Amino acid sequence: MTKTPIIIDCDPGQDDAVMLMMAFAKRDQLDILGICTVAGNVSIDKTTRNARIICEICGQTDIPVYAGYAAPLKRRLFTADEVHGEEGMNGVKVYEPEMPVQEKHAVNFIVDILREKEDGEVTLIVTGPMTNIAAAFSQAPGIKKKVKEIILMGGALRMGGNVTPSAEFNIFVDPEAAHIVYKSGVKTVTIGLDVTHQVLASNARLARIKAIGNKVADTACEILGPYSFFDSEKYGTDGGPLHDPCTIAYLLDPSLFKTKFCNIEVECNSELTVGHTAVDFWEGMDPKERPKNTHWAYEVDDKGVYRLLEECLATFS
Ligand code: RIB
Ligand code: CA
Repeated sequence: MTKTPIIIDCDPGQDDAVMLMMAFAKRDQLDILGICTVAGNVSIDKTTRNARIICEICGQTDIPVYAGYAAPLKRRLFTADEVHGEEGMNGVKVYEPEMPVQEKHAVNFIVDILREKEDGEVTLIVTGPMTNIAAAFSQAPGIKKKVKEIILMGGALRMGGNVTPSAEFNIFVDPEAAHIVYKSGVKTVTIGLDVTHQVLASNARLARIKAIGNKVADTACEILGPYSFFDSEKYGTDGGPLHDPCTIAYLLDPSLFKTKFCNIEVECNSELTVGHTAVDFWEGMDPKERPKNTHWAYEVDDKGVYRLLEECLATFS
């Protein structure tokens, strides 16, 4: 079976870390061309260190890691260390990895590798602010046709925001980058809070992951426990939402999600609602002015996502 070539762009970040574990588990299906990091949950130094720590824990140090933007395109960086911990990896004892960071900037890696590929060949998995992707598309517009689709975690419609009442974190941190990506003409699949909040890391699910009994599954458990605590308290739920792993779940089995092709626009100006994703789910707007530009995920088989996560984690035994 031919492998799906993918580039992962992320801001580890606890849920990014579990997303990486899922991708690593399926390298028989996925050709991971490289991991790009961006500032988001924590600073670029920490997201880049954390990505390499997860590579080392999972024994995947052959995958090149490229550091990207240290700040959004036009704004100061806004981080989420209150959720993920000061080091961005609550639950994991961080250390300086042996594994090197590549010399090349992540944006130059994205541009160079896509130039080598065929049209529509590469899938982008994006689980942080879209700064690197937007910068690459602006730097070399010709690479856009090389992208098959972008499966991104971000946005919210019915769920409301998780940073402000209106905005989800990844879009809030760099709304201009999100705007560029959604206007790029490249196919996007948007996995927003509306579905990720249906995929809760409940105690029962954590117990099942713990029972797998290998180092990677144990690490996932150690991450998801404290990660879950913050949102369980905030939302009064049994477990916190599993955001970023949903992108890999969609890539591996799109039937786990229901999506609707519709228009999405990003608020970049209003002080009150900056980062808001206006999703025209009911198609009320004039398609000439607001053409459809994303496959918006609105339902998910959460049991199926956890079955897949457990399957992935068990491969490290
Ligand atoms: O809103 C959730 C998103 O913001 C996730 O990608 C999480 O890692 C943070 O980056
Ligand atoms: Ca993330």
